[in-house]
Amino acid sequence: METGSVLAIAFVVLVPAAILWGIFLMRQRRTRKPTALLGIPMAMRPAPPDEELEGPRLQRVMVGGLVATLATAVFIPVYWLPERERQEAFEHRFAEASLERGQLIFARPPELEEDIPAAAFKAEEKALALGQGCANCHGSPGTLHVPPDENVAAGGIGNPAFKDPITNQVVAYQAPPLNNVFTRWDEEVVRFTIERGRPGTDMPAWGVEYGGSMTSMMVDDVIAWLRSLPGNQQGPPELSEGCQKPTATNQISCGQEIFEARCAVCHGPQGEGREGSRTMEIEVEGEMVEAPIWYQGLALWKGDVRHLSEREHEFTIRNGRRFAFMPQFAESPAQGIPVPPYPLTDAQIKAVMAYERTL
Ligand code: HEC
Ligand code: HEC
Repeated sequence: METGSVLAIAFVVLVPAAILWGIFLMRQRRTRKPTALLGIPMAMRPAPPDEELEGPRLQRVMVGGLVATLATAVFIPVYWLPERERQEAFEHRFAEASLERGQLIFARPPELEEDIPAAAFKAEEKALALGQGCANCHGSPGTLHVPPDENVAAGGIGNPAFKDPITNQVVAYQAPPLNNVFTRWDEEVVRFTIERGRPGTDMPAWGVEYGGSMTSMMVDDVIAWLRSLPGNQQGPPELSEGCQKPTATNQISCGQEIFEARCAVCHGPQGEGREGSRTMEIEVEGEMVEAPIWYQGLALWKGDVRHLSEREHEFTIRNGRRFAFMPQFAESPAQGIPVPPYPLTDAQIKAVMAYERTL
């Protein structure tokens, strides 16, 4: 605690104590009336005569009452009027504190030396207690170890490296960027994902109910912070004017544009999906390993979608595969599952379908 607040508390406690002590001493010194000395209870002592009770004394009590009533009448509106601003200031302060915590939760907890001085430890205590290290994986692109000050949430490769639980193969698992996650999902899905993780992928479950380390307040905080990032303020990458209403002539090129804007984050730039042909070097237990790059959501698809009939294909794009974490892209009536935040039009869905079938 700062010395200033220690002094303030001492003041608040000691001054009234001194005053009360003074009053007590004064009362002790006062000469007491014989009735009091005899120990006769108040109610049984002779009362003052009516002249005294109904004269100046009555007036004194009534003036006192009037003054107290007036004081209350003034106090209530004076207190009530700025109440709204006070509430707003509180809300503002809570929101700020939530953002600050959210950022610390996302970051990697600082690494401290063992015999760090107490004051330095104190300064890092909050970051240490909150840091969950989302930045390890979701930090910045292509880096295994993201320095704590670069928590831009631009996505990266899962760290530690992901080992396929079935084949034991080490893969470079793309942790998607989160500074635009609200262009793919609404808050319900983001919360669901953070709390429960994505089984079978590198994304662990964080909610305490699911065995993780984050309380629901921490999940709120990290969501609030993600929401505040500039990329989450806007919609997904803009589609060009011509692709707002794709026609037969620009269908394939628009399909490619839409694919790169909306689908590549999970399916890979060329739709290579999980069994991508691209590889990268990642560090595993001190050794560099050439590992294939996997995209999000166990998107098993390798670009060739011709095993799907056109109906199945369109159905998948329109409705998504919610529990495999493929978002729905068509605007659809509310049916208990979230409506896509940034839907595609029918013509745009046809265009991206046509493009995918050329891959
Ligand atoms: C957030 C990640 C994500 C995004 C964005 C996404 N997908 Fe998917 N998609 C998936 C996943 C995961 C699957 C695998 C679902 C499964 O295994 O059932 C999938 C499956 C598919 C399939 C079915 C493949 C098959 O072989 O069954 C098609 C077609 C498809 N996506 C098209 C698209 C198109 C078109 C877009 C963009 C408009 C898109 N996806 C955007 C995650 C995504
Ligand atoms: C060990 C690596 C790792 C850590 C640590 C990690 N994530 Fe993830 N996260 C992933 C991977 C990989 C995916 C993609 C999973 C998939 O394939 O669907 C993911 C997906 C997500 C998604 C869904 C993104 C989308 O577009 O569908 C959110 C939201 C998310 N993580 C939030 C967090 C938060 C918040 C934290 C920290 C509390 C965190 N993650 C920590 C690896 C990680």
